[in-house]
Amino acid sequence: MPRNSSFLKVATTIVIGIAISCGVSAAPEVQPDATGSIDSELTKGREIWGVHCSSCHGSSGQGGRGKKLNNGNLSINYPDRIEIINLIQNGKGQGMPAFSSKITVEETKAVIRYVLEVLN
Ligand code: HEC
Repeated sequence: MPRNSSFLKVATTIVIGIAISCGVSAAPEVQPDATGSIDSELTKGREIWGVHCSSCHGSSGQGGRGKKLNNGNLSINYPDRIEIINLIQNGKGQGMPAFSSKITVEETKAVIRYVLEVLN
């Protein structure tokens, strides 16, 4: 059945293509610490990042519709963590939506740690 097998080839190529492109655009993984354990708050932060933030800020925080967040400037511009929490909860300017109805303060803290400790 030549027809069937060429269909399979095309289908396989498409599936592999999607898998590769998803892998490339996925947010960076949380790496284990010196003792080999993975910080669950950072893992939670990564999940929130993927659902709520990466579409605008880029999967690695490289920027896009939203501001670049992986260049080390965030902790310099906002030395106090509470300022970043408030900014994310309340939104900023024209483009940064308020997240107070979408994610809790705990989740906001987790996503900030992911940005500062994994993306930067
Ligand atoms: C709809 C697009 C969009 C989404 C979704 C979004 N942002 Fe933003 N974000 C922006 C834009 C645009 C700015 C710049 C706002 C300005 O400075 O006026 C911004 C700014 C920021 C800033 C301030 C950067 C600075 O240096 O002032 C932080 C921090 C931030 N976003 C974090 C997040 C986090 C965390 C999430 C997910 C919970 C998120 N953003 C989701 C568009 C977005």
